[in-house]
Amino acid sequence: MKGSPMANIKFFSGRTTPIEMHRVRIIQKLNLLPIEERYKAIKEAGNNTFLLKNSDVFLDMLTDSGTNAMSNDQQAAMQQADDSYAGSATFYRLEKALQHVFGMEYFLPAHQGRACEHILAKFFIRKKGQIIPMNYHFTTAKAHITECGGQILEIPVKDAFDTTSTCPFKGNLDIDALKATIAKYGKDGIAFVRMEAGTNLIGGQPFSLQNLREVSAVCRANGILLVQDVSLLSDNLYFCKQREEICKNMSIHEIALAFAEASDLLYFSGRKLGCARGGGICTNSKKHYLDLRVFIPLFEGFLTYGGMSVREMEAMAVGLMETLDEDVISQGPQFIEYMTEELVKLKIPVITPPGGLGCHLNARDFLSHLKPDEYPAGSLASAMYLISGIRGMERGTLSEQRNEDGSEPIAQMELLRLALPRRVFTMSQIVYAVDRINWLYQNRHLVGGLKWIEEPPILRFFFGTLEPNSDWQQKLVAKFKEDLGDSL
Ligand code: F0G
Repeated sequence: MKGSPMANIKFFSGRTTPIEMHRVRIIQKLNLLPIEERYKAIKEAGNNTFLLKNSDVFLDMLTDSGTNAMSNDQQAAMQQADDSYAGSATFYRLEKALQHVFGMEYFLPAHQGRACEHILAKFFIRKKGQIIPMNYHFTTAKAHITECGGQILEIPVKDAFDTTSTCPFKGNLDIDALKATIAKYGKDGIAFVRMEAGTNLIGGQPFSLQNLREVSAVCRANGILLVQDVSLLSDNLYFCKQREEICKNMSIHEIALAFAEASDLLYFSGRKLGCARGGGICTNSKKHYLDLRVFIPLFEGFLTYGGMSVREMEAMAVGLMETLDEDVISQGPQFIEYMTEELVKLKIPVITPPGGLGCHLNARDFLSHLKPDEYPAGSLASAMYLISGIRGMERGTLSEQRNEDGSEPIAQMELLRLALPRRVFTMSQIVYAVDRINWLYQNRHLVGGLKWIEEPPILRFFFGTLEPNSDWQQKLVAKFKEDLGDSL
């Protein structure tokens, strides 16, 4: 790629402000409701940010899933989509892009990431109780594995749960623990090993290429499959390039190829990777391809679209190629780093080192006066929307599934994720977010807990409704008005 990555622009003043290496050409008008209306909206949404209407949201930091900005080349490519049910030229363009990026021959399209998880779990979990060791789970991956009778086993390195670590690769897998797991359960007791790039639920933390290669060597020596979830690959590639010695002289493409080379199967959410909407599975094994192929027409759609819109597939093909451009993939991590460092300066508890996907507030420390079963991260998400119109996502106990005996599984981490979809927000919007988080932190003692109104049995965080366990929200509104007058 021509030009230098944005990381290399130095300011005469010595400041380190990330610079967008793109310009905005299409915009969407935003709306910031007055606080009284935000109070009404969050109440109606049962204090669940998933249930807010986007027209009531100012900065939508719920997720980066399907919400990344597209490039002009992606938009242009959508016009050439071939609608044919079978044999669409669009499919072959997407397949070619994936073959280029990963050097893998076979591609199975699926409507999104969890569809791949469904198919992989369905085929590879052969016996009830089989173990799937992994660096960390993602909600939908765990739900599909459990549904198919498998059991996840998280064996990340110790630093993974250290919220203020300096470890550059908190997403690494503990190799000794992997060996011990294989010794304990044997090859037949393990369905596959799963490595998640840009480990979502522990703050978008990457693994290193070195660690992946070591995991791969152990799996290969023991005849165990290695499946990689590359939904958040772009951030992980950027971090390897920035933080890992062996990657310093590799191109982004060479790192992506090395990731693929270490794995038997890759799957991804195309709502994240490639900045469009869809997903798929890649492999170099004809056997895996043929074994899994039967599920595509059954659950997804014909083999040349897999439930995706062909327009999205065209955009994804271009978006995947753009993932190899460091200027493109550095925007997210650099904005997240900026936001995280501003919060650290204000002594606000936030996950460090900054990861990908978003900025993660540590709700357990932020609201240290709350008990775990008062759902600190859920309360923080509700309070954040109320005082700022910013919609984040609870990534803590509410995002977990109840234990079989009905007890509450207190999550290892209690986070409020403020996602920064790629190339969407401007620097002044980040400055606003930091200002409102600071106000909330100064007034944190006013924030109380939440309790259930309605709790669904599966993936409860999506539709569950809750209410405050006291009148803390009214008190927070009153204090906001006292401090900020009639400001929105
Ligand atoms: N794997 C990872 C690492 C993910 O982050 C996601 C989705 C999936 C798989 C599932 O993909 O949504 O296309 O079915 N994460 C979204 C999020 C939902 O908000 O973090 P999907």
